[in-house]
Amino acid sequence: MKNLLTENISHVKNLSREEFEALYEFTQILNSATQQESLIEDTIDIVIKLINAERGIFVKYDEPTNNFSIITGRKISSENITDLGEFSSGILQKVIKEKKPLLYHDVMSDPHLSQFESVQIHRIKSVIGVPINRNGKVWGVIIADSTLDRREFTEENLVFLNFFSNLVSLALDKILKLEELEKENIILTNKLQSTEEIPEMIGTSHVMRNLSQLIYKVAQTDATVLIVGESGTGKEVAAKAIHQLSKRKGKPFLAQFCGSIPDNLLESELFGYKKGAFTGANADKQGLIEAAEGGTFFLDEIGDISNALQAKLLRVLESKEIIRLGDTKVKKADVRIIAATNKDLHSLTKEGQFREDLFYRLNVFPIKMPPLRERREDIPVLASFFAKKLGRKEILIEPAAIKKLENYYWPGNIRQLINVIQRALILSDTNKISSEHIILEDSRDLADFKGSLHEFEMLLLKKRLDEFNGNRTLTAKSLDVSVRWIQLKLKEMGENL
Ligand SMILES: Nc1ncnc2c1ncn2[C@@H]1O[C@H](COP(=O)(O)OP(=O)(O)O)[C@@H](O)[C@H]1O
Ligand SMILES: [Mg+2]
Repeated sequence: MKNLLTENISHVKNLSREEFEALYEFTQILNSATQQESLIEDTIDIVIKLINAERGIFVKYDEPTNNFSIITGRKISSENITDLGEFSSGILQKVIKEKKPLLYHDVMSDPHLSQFESVQIHRIKSVIGVPINRNGKVWGVIIADSTLDRREFTEENLVFLNFFSNLVSLALDKILKLEELEKENIILTNKLQSTEEIPEMIGTSHVMRNLSQLIYKVAQTDATVLIVGESGTGKEVAAKAIHQLSKRKGKPFLAQFCGSIPDNLLESELFGYKKGAFTGANADKQGLIEAAEGGTFFLDEIGDISNALQAKLLRVLESKEIIRLGDTKVKKADVRIIAATNKDLHSLTKEGQFREDLFYRLNVFPIKMPPLRERREDIPVLASFFAKKLGRKEILIEPAAIKKLENYYWPGNIRQLINVIQRALILSDTNKISSEHIILEDSRDLADFKGSLHEFEMLLLKKRLDEFNGNRTLTAKSLDVSVRWIQLKLKEMGENL
């Protein structure tokens, strides 16, 4: 490119007034040109004006396919041209082959060119073709022509255009490089965003990365989401993440555990009630869905709800409407619903236990949480994360202990891992967790239990809490103890999760 410029330097000294003005105009354009389209348009205008052509086009050349496409075209009247068929394709081919500006006079009599119909149609007298190069290849071609009654183009025009085309090539190269960088930047930022970890979701395994991407994507929409996965895989964590990453994040995120809860209790929790709706309903009460207005509502363990409640939920999803128990007034609710289950809802619908219409409404965007055994790579980082979180900052988990954790099948997934780490911390007196501190149940069946009565009590309590998703009231009921008792036992265990 540099050589080409020096080659043309001598010509600059002999610039005509028009050429000088055209150059001056062009340098101003160069200063502000940041987009190829506008640079090309300005270039065409300058060329048309300078050589007094009747019309001009800029044709983009695609070398691999040998295809041409008009990027922009102008007539002297400033009309746009869009049909390449109106131009001589012969000169295009020639310019591409010779990679230098070409000029033809008396086109009609030129044996190479007159065979082209378009040339005859338009009775073109002179045509000039100027290549714009990039990386040593023709990137595009400027074609300008004029008909019989106009002035012919000159050799002078050609020399100037050669010089001019080199300038345009330089400018275009700069712009294209910028555009490429910009595009790369957009892609990179997008990638960064979508592979960025969700803070509460520890794990860098392939499955977790895919999951984060999915969560980022669905968070941008208002779609109903169904999160499926075994107990303890992080369904609730995922639901919260979707809310946090969505435009609803400033609004409430409310959740209701739907498993093993009597129907009427669950219904009044979700929908609220009117005073006198049932004995004990002493005042109007807002339901949770209503309270989540503008935000997200998480229905946990939705596979367990009754048929009657399924119908009511369907109405919430379909018409975004709720009615309080004992009320007749219909209220609008702008709430995004996220549901979760560890059951196979699809088979439940086949067995007639779950409404098919509700299933399809919920299943707009399914997300599957992988069981821990399918992402064992994440176990070491999860284990040390929980060890730190549960109290001891400088705790070392010995390699043998990590191995033991990695080899286990984790039926209770992350929730179980947390419990195991917690127990290991209690058993270890130093700042090390060794493999003997890692107590894993071979079976979740308590009948096989070999430990002390106190340990059995703790294990049963933990299991029961898991079954009720941490709900202490329900756990207390099922064990026939008080909530206070449970709180004391948990305190005894150093439970602070
Ligand atoms: N990827 C994760 N990183 C860190 N902690 C997690 C992750 N997934 C789940 N947890 C923790 O595991 C426990 C169970 O998660 P939860 O969302 O309640 O599971 P699920 O609803 O599927 O039973 C919670 O204490 C949660 O904070
Ligand atoms: Mg849960």
